[in-house]
Amino acid sequence: MKISTVQFNPILFDKEFNINKMLNLIENVKSDIIVFPELSTTGYFFLHKEEMHRYSDSFDSETIKIFQRISTDRNQIIVFGFLEEAKEHFYNSAAILFPQAKYSQVYRKTHLFYKEKFVFTPGDTGFININYPDWDLNIGTLICYDWRFPEAARTLALEGADIVVVPSNLVTKIWHRSMPARALDNHIYLAVANRIGTESRRDEELYFNGMSVIYDFNGEVLDLATPTEETIVTAEFDPREARDKSINAMNDIFTDRVPKYYFLG
Ligand code: ACM
Repeated sequence: MKISTVQFNPILFDKEFNINKMLNLIENVKSDIIVFPELSTTGYFFLHKEEMHRYSDSFDSETIKIFQRISTDRNQIIVFGFLEEAKEHFYNSAAILFPQAKYSQVYRKTHLFYKEKFVFTPGDTGFININYPDWDLNIGTLICYDWRFPEAARTLALEGADIVVVPSNLVTKIWHRSMPARALDNHIYLAVANRIGTESRRDEELYFNGMSVIYDFNGEVLDLATPTEETIVTAEFDPREARDKSINAMNDIFTDRVPKYYFLG
């Protein structure tokens, strides 16, 4: 099975440009799974709720339907970040779209980063591993800053995820240290779709540092982008390889766990 993560520079407040760019970028991509960055369709740096409704989508909107049709027509799983509006709340969400649309779901970002707290509501979906029986695949989704919480990736792995995909708008210089550990801790594949470029609001500029990457279950890099280029990162993986959690004849990193001593607060 092949997965691609798409690294590009979404333009804040230019949804039409961003959607066209996304469609163009994947026109010839044949991978089974395609992952775009966080808030791909809108750009990132919203500061006021009043400026968001114009760019928001509900999960049954035309924007979602465009990508759902591609997913079904081309037999590809498509994951992308979008600004979701539901019941007068804005969520920093990811659409996870399967060729068989009845499996498609939305994940709403649990851990809000920085000024997202001004405008978004924390996600209420929890961490969703989706089993797609047609392909014998289990896929979980995190969004960006969720990486800081090992419990999030762990939850998806315990739910059975073979691969976790991470639509992102990463700005720190330290995520590269931790992200492969999430793959290693859980013996899962992990694919980061990060954006590039900058966004300025008032006198503050955010720099998004690319380096989209796909890790195997040992945290080894399978493919990696540069910090600045529009590009697509691709790797082959076998979801079944993530399921055996034994590391030698005596140890299995899941059955060796001792939850009664783990403090979750
Ligand atoms: C982030 O969560 N966008 C850093």
